[in-house]
Amino acid sequence: MDYYITCIPGDGIGPEIVAAAKKVLDAVARKFGHSFKYTDILMGGASIDVHGVPLTDEAIATAKAADAVLMGSIGGDTNTSPWYKLEPSKRPEAGLLKIRKALNLFANLRPAVLFDDLADACVLKKEICEKGFDLVIVRELTGGLYFGERKTYTDNGVRTAVDTLKYDEKEIKRIAVKAFEIAKKRRNKVTSVDKANVLDSSRLWRAVVNEVSADYPEVTLEHMLVDNCAMQLVKDPSQFDVILTENMFGDILSDEASMITGSIGMLSSASLNETKFGLYEPSHGSAPDIAGKDIANPIATILSAAMMLRYSFDLNKEADAVENAVRSVIRKGIRTKDIASEGFETVGCKAMGELIAEEIG
Ligand code: IPM
Ligand code: MG
Repeated sequence: MDYYITCIPGDGIGPEIVAAAKKVLDAVARKFGHSFKYTDILMGGASIDVHGVPLTDEAIATAKAADAVLMGSIGGDTNTSPWYKLEPSKRPEAGLLKIRKALNLFANLRPAVLFDDLADACVLKKEICEKGFDLVIVRELTGGLYFGERKTYTDNGVRTAVDTLKYDEKEIKRIAVKAFEIAKKRRNKVTSVDKANVLDSSRLWRAVVNEVSADYPEVTLEHMLVDNCAMQLVKDPSQFDVILTENMFGDILSDEASMITGSIGMLSSASLNETKFGLYEPSHGSAPDIAGKDIANPIATILSAAMMLRYSFDLNKEADAVENAVRSVIRKGIRTKDIASEGFETVGCKAMGELIAEEIG
């Protein structure tokens, strides 16, 4: 069968890691008799340089016409790149927010897993790492502070800025349903994270999540305040299965969750809408400092491609094959620089993609 994939190589290490993921997908296509057809679009800085804007309407239309989108990363060094001299709506990140909204990608899944063979990389104390952890953050992605009204103005000569945090019950319900559905396929636990001791939006969030939970008696629901959750993630991450939260809290907690694995270069993510369509990208950024040096770790993008096979194409066997290939290369002691410790063979981005592809057969 033919699958149409729009690729966004993007900026920084993006083009290198997407190229490596395509190698792996091509190996999957050969082995399992599929055909993946790629069309590249520009987004972020790469689009600004050509079109003057971080995402064009034509690029959105191309993405919409595909079965799924595979993205590398966008953005540059915020201190030195000329892209950050532009007004905020023309900067690279505005392209990412625009595509999320245009494709209605309201559900962002960010798994944080401690890989057995990389347990040494875990930055937490040994007695915490030993318990292992395997959690997924389900982050609302098209509402809240990111998309609320904002303005900057002068009030009686005082510079003032406002951002608005708004959620309606429909937005909360659809992301809560996703979280419970995912929990059902995992370990049946949802931790809903909010700031209900202060915010109205969080109080509504809690009420709606409680209502949704009535349809999922097999799933245990707990509520946790966001500051406590930030602490619990470093104290005992093994307690979490699915963490459900709003856009801004999810942004912050997902960086924390990825860091405690010690291998941010390994973590994938998926942004989904109500259909099978999704945008898949690594959890890490564009790492402009190592761009073009062939030392980036492509595994997060390769594992994102595996999520694409699973969630958008229902190709579970194929997704398993990619995940197993990654595990087996790691087990052989082959590492990119970011996850290498003494005694391991270090390879570049391109070679890592090729080795994982070979493993698939
Ligand atoms: C992320 C990123 C984005 C976000 C930025 C680049 C706008 O941090 O995907 O987590 O805040 O959502
Ligand atoms: Mg972030």
